[in-house]
Amino acid sequence: MSEDRSQQHKPQTMGQQYGRRSWAEPWKIKMVEPISLAGPEERARAIREAGYNTFLLRSEDVYIDLLTDSGTSAMSDRQWAGLMLGDEAYAGSRNFYHLEEAVQTYYGYRYVVPTHQGRGAEHLISRALIEPGDFIPGNMYFTTTRLHQELAGGTFVDVIVDEAHDPASLHPFKGNVDLNKLQALIERVGAEHIPYVSLAGTVNMAGGQPVSMANVKALRALCDRYGIKVYLDATRMAENAFFIQEREEGYQNTPIAAILKEFCSYTDGAWMSAKKDHLVNIGGWLAVNDHDVFEQCSNLVVVYEGLHTYGGMAGRDMEALAIGITEALEDAHIRTRVNQVRYLGDLLSAWDIPIVQPVGGHAVFLNAKLFYPHIPQNQFPAQMLAAQLYLDSGVRAMERGVVSAGRDPETGEHRYPALELVRLTIPRRVYTQAHMDVTAEAVKAVFDTREQTRGLKMVFEPKYLRFFQARFEPIG
Ligand code: F0G
Repeated sequence: MSEDRSQQHKPQTMGQQYGRRSWAEPWKIKMVEPISLAGPEERARAIREAGYNTFLLRSEDVYIDLLTDSGTSAMSDRQWAGLMLGDEAYAGSRNFYHLEEAVQTYYGYRYVVPTHQGRGAEHLISRALIEPGDFIPGNMYFTTTRLHQELAGGTFVDVIVDEAHDPASLHPFKGNVDLNKLQALIERVGAEHIPYVSLAGTVNMAGGQPVSMANVKALRALCDRYGIKVYLDATRMAENAFFIQEREEGYQNTPIAAILKEFCSYTDGAWMSAKKDHLVNIGGWLAVNDHDVFEQCSNLVVVYEGLHTYGGMAGRDMEALAIGITEALEDAHIRTRVNQVRYLGDLLSAWDIPIVQPVGGHAVFLNAKLFYPHIPQNQFPAQMLAAQLYLDSGVRAMERGVVSAGRDPETGEHRYPALELVRLTIPRRVYTQAHMDVTAEAVKAVFDTREQTRGLKMVFEPKYLRFFQARFEPIG
């Protein structure tokens, strides 16, 4: 074998390809859960029975499950040990006080209300703060967040920067609020009809795109001029803090935990789906600085979730969550987490597969409009792409396009978002680099046969959050 040939076949590590040293996960695997790939006929049957909706598949029919990063994380040995320390008292469980202290320490808010998950907290804050006829500006909608704002009588108004709606824009902080859009809304409806700005870290529907520290500071200053509050969806703020550390001048040597705390200090409170950043399978919380808002929410939680010292969680869940908060904010963890997502994104980009750029914190988003330019948006191209991916390889992803956007409550028409996407969401500490390789090859296979694919028609549509339960049939 010639010298040249052996050079050609010399395997390269990821780090060598990028001209740097490789990173590896700051953990090793202690317990495994078997998974297997169903055959092609079984997959065809499964997706048909699921009405071409990946939410309706049985998990045992799925091979690599990238539906969501919500509640799908692997807990650490310390968290599992924490479960054994559950204090299952109805009231005043010691685990609640651990949780309260962790939230106060890391997020810096004064008062904490536990909830069973994120939407429980969204419900409480929306009810407490929104009057019918109010407007709630935010940096792009999230499905459950907007629905709770609407159910409380409010109207959500998108004030995110234009770049967020452009999958190709390389803006480093595509989650930023456009302060001119916010100012225009204040002038149009009056500050007295805007109870708060609904600010989200690493904007989920925009592709996991971050908000800069400069932007939240400027937002705070603008809102202070008008007496408007700022409440934060902190669900993926650890990832947002990572992007600030990586991209924003002056933060390169600041620990993730310190960046997070500074960011939160510009807001009046936050709600949290702990099922994401916090590395637990269930849980959430609401935290605020204002005592009156706390009293209201602490009263409402008793009606809708459970007593104010458990909010729908078992004592053991709160213990695992309190421990998860400390693990989630370790720099080594969050760097590994985001870089694994980026690894998958880089593989797809290298094959010219259209994805949202830059790759965000929790997922790689496929651009279904460019995948299937021949399928009109009212034939649900992203829904079909998610189904095709499952058919090809048993990889489960999620539609984030016209189905997720739902209907306009006033006109009853579909809302057509600029972004028609499929989300490949990476659970934390669950899959290896090899799973990412298999996933990338699956996407490539679907991409290579894209011209033969046709659209879908919706045959069943539930009233609320239709993407979870809608059913479809192929056209033609
Ligand atoms: N906010 C954001 C940004 C979310 O991503 C979610 C959930 C919620 C709030 C609601 O929290 O599910 O605990 O009630 N997102 C999940 C997802 C469902 O797959 O992105 P929850």
